[in-house]
Amino acid sequence: CGIVGYTGFRDAYDVVINGLRRLEYRGYDSAGVILETEKGEFEVKKTKGKVDDLVAISKSLQSTSKIGMGHTRWATHGVPSDNNSHPHVSNNGKIAIVHNGIIENYDTIKTMLINKNFEFKSETDTEVLVNLIQYFMDKEPTLDFPEAVRYALNEVYGAYAVSVMHEDFPGQLVVARLGSPLAVGIGTDEYFVASDASPFVEFTKEAVYLEEGHMAIISLDSGIDIRTITENTKIEPAIQELKLNLEQIEKGGYEHFMLKEIFEQPKSILDTMRGRLLADEGIIKMAGIWDHLERLTNAERIIIIACGTSWHAGLIGEYLIEEFARVPVEVEYASEFRYRNPIISSKDVVIAISQSGETADTMAAIKLAKEKGAFVFGICNVVDSSISRYTDAGAYTHAGPEIGVASTKAFTAQLTILSLIAIKLGNHNGNLGKADFMRLITELEAIPKKVEDVLKTVDEAVKTIAKKFADATNFLYLGRGYNFPAALEGALKLKEISYIHAEGYPAAEMKHGPIALIDENMPIVIIAPKVGHYDKIVSNVQEIKARKGQVIAIINKGDTQVAAMADYIIEIPETSECFSPILASVPLQLLSYYIAVERGANVDQPRNLAKSVTVE
Ligand code: G6P
Repeated sequence: CGIVGYTGFRDAYDVVINGLRRLEYRGYDSAGVILETEKGEFEVKKTKGKVDDLVAISKSLQSTSKIGMGHTRWATHGVPSDNNSHPHVSNNGKIAIVHNGIIENYDTIKTMLINKNFEFKSETDTEVLVNLIQYFMDKEPTLDFPEAVRYALNEVYGAYAVSVMHEDFPGQLVVARLGSPLAVGIGTDEYFVASDASPFVEFTKEAVYLEEGHMAIISLDSGIDIRTITENTKIEPAIQELKLNLEQIEKGGYEHFMLKEIFEQPKSILDTMRGRLLADEGIIKMAGIWDHLERLTNAERIIIIACGTSWHAGLIGEYLIEEFARVPVEVEYASEFRYRNPIISSKDVVIAISQSGETADTMAAIKLAKEKGAFVFGICNVVDSSISRYTDAGAYTHAGPEIGVASTKAFTAQLTILSLIAIKLGNHNGNLGKADFMRLITELEAIPKKVEDVLKTVDEAVKTIAKKFADATNFLYLGRGYNFPAALEGALKLKEISYIHAEGYPAAEMKHGPIALIDENMPIVIIAPKVGHYDKIVSNVQEIKARKGQVIAIINKGDTQVAAMADYIIEIPETSECFSPILASVPLQLLSYYIAVERGANVDQPRNLAKSVTVE
């Protein structure tokens, strides 16, 4: 979910609605807005659906209010519906809340409140929290509003970022965070509250990222007052300069963010390597690694934890690190790792990968690993995100803001960072000789240019294939070695945005099951550059053709063997096997994109998904 709040001299409605549009990547099942009128009364509009649906029902709002809040939801407790949408208002109609996260003990509190005659209109945990605040204020009528919020937050377990308003305390926003991010933008005579800085980046460059367990009382009269939730201890605000700019979070002429982000990859990969890869001098410089090189190279084992696309990057990371640094690597889904009592000790190094740096399962897995003494290295894209701040060390991918829900440029940036780490470790621990090291870094340096070539040359071929298979109901993606995880990622991209069922498989495993699915209607995408066990892939293509499957092959320019058998080909430049997933991923991203467009699907906001999953 995404939350926004504003107090200042502008029309709060406009700031909130524009802010919600920027935060829609966090969820878009329902949306809501609340304004405090000049008379100090609340006006609420909320609806199932997108921010556009909210705008459509908000015409009657008194749009000159200067203070308000908004919410865009990704449903957890309760289906997407008007009633379950935020803001939620307390029984006495005076307190309003927007919330991102989950209150785990809401059931017990709800029962207690029902016994005290509170009534509930929604199935949400959030409505419980707002009524708990009212409960404390009813019980102790002299209680200050922020204190009541603090009391209530001390009763709940779970994860939250909240923003709360009270009709009797006009001009005040009380915000708090535990587990879900919250930024406060500080302008001249105005304050912004949001799940990330994108809603206010055009208004101010100064922000405070609320720390875990902190709350802030914000008003034009008293400014920003930060306290700890447990003890009410005053904290000095740490104001930061935002590096984000407006251009980065706009579509820049592209029809969708996803397409823009796919086309940004030559630059984003270069940005990931910038200042780190000095191929001419034969150096890889990464402070995050350099400072902890011994810890990393002496690790008995590296465990990579991540979710979704980042997990796929992790799988390729395993191939890279084991090949070049010869350190054993395990790759785990964060959600599995954290709940299975894993064996982990101070001899282990954990690498956590997360685009957003906010994924709840990844964060919880990191906490567990740290508790057990492991050293945790983070690879995040979002600067100052929770994971980047909580890990012992790390490296940013620097791919720039990724808005499309389906991850593209963040994935190739993660592969770039993992390549740098693996090559650096191998070079340091003696497993990668000087000549190989030099060859690899020279090749890596050439990747952005090769990605640019892919983008210039494959578009037409991919569009033709997309038209042909837009109505398919199933797809199989196959690859071997480094390109097996690339096949998984290709299949995930298609599922996410076109809603076509797709499976990724190691090509050789096909004969153990998926081959049964193959008939003349089945499209099979096979990643077949002339690297690794190319001859084996050739045999796999033969096996598919023998069963009349439709082969879409990603091959190197000039390849004739697979090209002769395939129904459709997409050509990519040559590179070492270890970097080939970067090049192969680009046409796979485009294929899913064009198929989704053909099907009329909402590319940037696919149904049921959210970009940043801050609930477990
Ligand atoms: C969500 C997103 C995916 C992403 C995954 C992990 O499911 O829709 O695109 O790969 O979360 O996110 P992270 O931010 O931790 O990489």
